[in-house]
Amino acid sequence: MQIAYTVEEVRKQVKEWKKEGLTVGLVPTMGYLHEGHASLMKKAVEQCDRVVTSVFLNPIQFAPNEDLESYPRDFEADCKLCDSIGVNLVFHPEPSEMYAPDFCTSVNMDILTTTLCGKSRPTHFGGVCTVVNKLFNIVAPDRAFFGQKDAQQLAVIRRMVRDLNMDIEIVGCPIIREEDGLAKSSRNTYLNSEERQAALILSKAIFMGQQMVADGETSAKAVRDAMVAKIESEPLAKIDYVEVVDGITMQPVETVASPTLVAIAVYVGKTRLIDNFIVD
Ligand code: PAF
Repeated sequence: MQIAYTVEEVRKQVKEWKKEGLTVGLVPTMGYLHEGHASLMKKAVEQCDRVVTSVFLNPIQFAPNEDLESYPRDFEADCKLCDSIGVNLVFHPEPSEMYAPDFCTSVNMDILTTTLCGKSRPTHFGGVCTVVNKLFNIVAPDRAFFGQKDAQQLAVIRRMVRDLNMDIEIVGCPIIREEDGLAKSSRNTYLNSEERQAALILSKAIFMGQQMVADGETSAKAVRDAMVAKIESEPLAKIDYVEVVDGITMQPVETVASPTLVAIAVYVGKTRLIDNFIVD
């Protein structure tokens, strides 16, 4: 497995692959890889001749008060995992390789980014769209793989690709959970044992909402209210949002229909966790 630190190295390798007529898959990550990332990489290896995983902790998608400095990192373990899955190239640039000191161009999106995480983190999706656009320009993949756990991010990326006519297939992959239900996340590592237990309230609320819908509930308010009450029963949990939105536009809906996204963000102690389900 090759490790590249510069844009030039990646481009050179990808050009060689393309000359041979091989398809290229990209799995963009911020590192500290877990089984959720592994599932994306496995799918990429299945669907593409060559796979690039980017490991880049993108500073511009964090606001000054967020966890950029404390975000967990373990590049050696990340490389081992990538290698074991059959990833061909890991792209691990320094921030200075990605952003020139006088960098002043960005990709911003309206509407889809005004709700859910975009409401609580108003600068976040500009940073995500910009870096993903840059990674697409650097790697020029045929397919790119994103997790459904960041459902709003997946919707935003799909829209960016459509709106900007990017010739890339976006592949969404299911949420991977711990055995007890907690959605896998690099941020789970912040939780102490009491908080780790309390964090189960997210998946409990998600499974409950999902069951209500499966049982025929179509009122967004009824589903939302029940999930809010469930989460509020956990003293260590503080709700950022519980929302029922259209699965494409990310705007609130009154009736649960297809496709609807039910998404939550909850602080457990100081750690902000997200989870969701799609009605499709
Ligand atoms: O989902 C993530 O890890 C990041 O938002 C992404 C897509 C790698 C962009 O930095």
